[in-house]
Amino acid sequence: MQDNRVVQVVEDLEQTLLQFIRKHRISHADYRLATDLIVESVKQGEESLLFDIFFEAEATDVGSAGSQASQAAIEGPFYIPGAPLLEKPYVMPQREDEAGEPMTFSGVVSDLHGNAVSGAVIDVWHADAAGLYSQIHPNIPEWNLRARFVTEADGSFTVETILPPPYEIPKDGPTGIVLNALGRHFFRPAHVHLKVSADGFEDLTSQLYFPGGEFLDNDVANAVRDGLMFDIEEDEDGVHAKYDFTLTTASPSS
Ligand SMILES: [Fe+2]
Repeated sequence: MQDNRVVQVVEDLEQTLLQFIRKHRISHADYRLATDLIVESVKQGEESLLFDIFFEAEATDVGSAGSQASQAAIEGPFYIPGAPLLEKPYVMPQREDEAGEPMTFSGVVSDLHGNAVSGAVIDVWHADAAGLYSQIHPNIPEWNLRARFVTEADGSFTVETILPPPYEIPKDGPTGIVLNALGRHFFRPAHVHLKVSADGFEDLTSQLYFPGGEFLDNDVANAVRDGLMFDIEEDEDGVHAKYDFTLTTASPSS
């Protein structure tokens, strides 16, 4: 059955690309190079990466425009659903000799009126000290530095983990070919990915960065936004990263 939204969007994309082909005199060889690159990205499991780097942040901004919830951020290509649910005290799954500076991540989840949201599920994933993700890069335990935990009655949470570094996205595949040809670097600034969900509220996907960190101004994914910075304190126990979340009530249709 015809879908009017699909007709409107896809036909506009079709016309935009036809115009683009004429404008840049794209030959058949150029065209096949591009389609082969996309096919190869699928073969290498990079199709999300290839598109996310260029377009995910813009789509996220458009999708969250006007929301009164905390700033939304890109999910990125490395999210894996179903991470272990932690028991208190919350410590991210990690190897016995996990490298990296100790970090606590804490905050409070509230609604638009400042009321605590208890029992909210926070699903966190981030890179290890070498910039690598479990289930994406080899030889890392399955759920390393991936976990879910819930907020207390007062909406608060605290979890122990390690400080993630800036990292380079995979550069040996099709995405690397494109970025190399563009003369761009491969770095993302240090960040922690997470999702916050609670009954009756809109889900929030976020990604939090460290003020003053490298590559904040030239993130390869262009995904850094003002509202996505941790409050950071540092003492002899390590780094204390804080961020409070505001959720909006779910619309009846969601
Ligand atoms: Fe990441």
